[in-house]
Amino acid sequence: MTTLVRGDVRPGLTDLVMGVRAAVDRRVGWRETAVLVSGELRRHLPSPDVLTAQERLGDPATYQSHTLYAAPDGAFSIVGLVWRPGQITPIHDHVTWCVFGVLQGIEHEELYVHEGDHLLSVGVNDNRTGDISGFAPPGDIHRVRNSGDTTSISIHVYGTDVSRIDSSVRRVYDLPVRD
Ligand SMILES: [Fe+2]
Repeated sequence: MTTLVRGDVRPGLTDLVMGVRAAVDRRVGWRETAVLVSGELRRHLPSPDVLTAQERLGDPATYQSHTLYAAPDGAFSIVGLVWRPGQITPIHDHVTWCVFGVLQGIEHEELYVHEGDHLLSVGVNDNRTGDISGFAPPGDIHRVRNSGDTTSISIHVYGTDVSRIDSSVRRVYDLPVRD
């Protein structure tokens, strides 16, 4: 278990942390910030070994989340997610903007909108190694699954310190889905 010290930067994350800091300090809205941070992640996408060998293994019980960086002022944090084949999130949305990039493997994303007593399925994305994507609430309900046959790893930048609030999830949706 790697202990998180706020403000500490892992090797391989320095340029990304500096780029995200500059983007966040422009203090524009969530959507524009997500666009700016997407550019930073595209320029400074780390390799999977930004996670330790132990972290990269994943866990047969469920996908794993590792906070890699937390800004001392709580403005943003960077998280590595590790998924064994088939591992899946619940359907959820988020407390803030998020930008993510796939470092290894493939992550299949299903998108939904909330309509009264049900969810409407509105699209899917296959995010492959090197792909960058971002979003800002509202309209950010999704479910993510490792659809490949190898462990997948992705890096997520969130517009808050997720280690303080335990998770980026605002709400989990347990509603029927219609196509
Ligand atoms: Fe999510």
